[in-house]
Amino acid sequence: MSREQWGSRTGFILAAVGSAVGLGNIWRFPYVTYENGGGAFFIPYLFAMLTAGIPFMILEFTLGHKYRSGAPKTLASLNRRFEWLGWFQVMISAVIACYYVVVIAWAISYCYFAFSQSWGDDSNSFFFGTFLGLTSDNAPSRLGDLRWNLLLPLSIAWAATYVATYRGVQGGIEKINKILMPLLFLLVLYLIARIAFLPGALDGINWMFAPDFSKIWDPKVWSAAYGQIFFTLSVGFAIMLSYASFLPEKSDINNNAFMTVLMNCGFSMLAGIMVFGALGYMAHAQGTALTEVVSSGVGLAFVTLPTAINLLPAPGIMGPLFFLALVFAGVSSHISIAQAVITGLMDKLGWNRHQASTLFCTLGFLISLLFITQGGLLLLDLVDYFINNVALLGACLLELLLAGWLCRLTDFQRHANRLSEFRVGNWWLFCIRFVSVGILLILLFNNILGAF
Ligand code: PHE
Ligand code: NA
Repeated sequence: MSREQWGSRTGFILAAVGSAVGLGNIWRFPYVTYENGGGAFFIPYLFAMLTAGIPFMILEFTLGHKYRSGAPKTLASLNRRFEWLGWFQVMISAVIACYYVVVIAWAISYCYFAFSQSWGDDSNSFFFGTFLGLTSDNAPSRLGDLRWNLLLPLSIAWAATYVATYRGVQGGIEKINKILMPLLFLLVLYLIARIAFLPGALDGINWMFAPDFSKIWDPKVWSAAYGQIFFTLSVGFAIMLSYASFLPEKSDINNNAFMTVLMNCGFSMLAGIMVFGALGYMAHAQGTALTEVVSSGVGLAFVTLPTAINLLPAPGIMGPLFFLALVFAGVSSHISIAQAVITGLMDKLGWNRHQASTLFCTLGFLISLLFITQGGLLLLDLVDYFINNVALLGACLLELLLAGWLCRLTDFQRHANRLSEFRVGNWWLFCIRFVSVGILLILLFNNILGAF
């Protein structure tokens, strides 16, 4: 039986961009940028993109394309003793899939709430209290209390992933991304056009881009930039590798990797403009300082922005559209995470697509129920912290060490260059072997020590 393939180059790129562009672009990027010196952050960020993001993307595309299989089998082909690393990456993806989907479920609910802004004036106590049901004793002991209001949106999110992966690479994943990605870009452009002309919006945007050059010598800013790049590009844990394993024989790897990275980072800029435009307008309307309205992570998307939406003209249109954008970005990433697991199972255990997709989506759904309980948010934060700060960086590092030091990296360079319009030279070898490895070591040590 021959391996499934992407139907077209555009289809592959849109799917890869769909994986990269996710919840992280819309709420994480603006906040990380702000926290790390605004405009001055772009220098480390662009540097990280060039020295780690693009080289790593080229490597993952090359490995997937060369060995035509998911992470466990690919890494086993590189070195038999490293099959476990492939399974470890698959396991990370499986865990991420189980909680990433919960945030999508929140966004689906908020999409519905946004029609009438049912979060009211106090979006904070609405989110944590009314919606998630947290009480002062929101301990893990509350993992038994399911939030029934989240069951339907959670099922919808899993259903989307199930349909896409069940129908397969071309008939499912490619098709859905070809619809979702253009719609997502249009949605964000429309929201920016509506927001940018509101009073105060430009101040918000300026403020995000205003360089604070004193921060550029701060090592924390550099580690934030590299951390954001690995996360935002979904490299290092089998996802891009699994998508690339379905590339046709004749594929321009280097060019595809550049396009994917540039479109993802471009989208981040757009999302930043949208979010900070809205925050600037909100600060203006409330007569408060911008610094007082900014908050991070979950809080930004589900607490601060709902309040901003209340103040917008036509909130019943802009609100649902904003959350719809979040849902589209999330679903297309979730599909890629699930597919990484499914590809791993199929290639190594010889299952067919329907079996692998059904098994994983059913199990994943059951496990993700844990995260929609009263203690769920606490668990989610904990797991997310460990995955992002330790497991993911460790997996990235080991993959780079394996490919860069235990294998002949020049073989991969040749493979990548063979059919590509432009070639990668020695800088690529250098970035993989030294720059990325060095930075990851620093980040990992930093995070492990910082946890104590
Ligand atoms: N790259 C995605 C984003 O920016 C996040 C993601 C994380 C995707 C993990 C897949 C896996 O949100
Ligand atoms: Na991203």
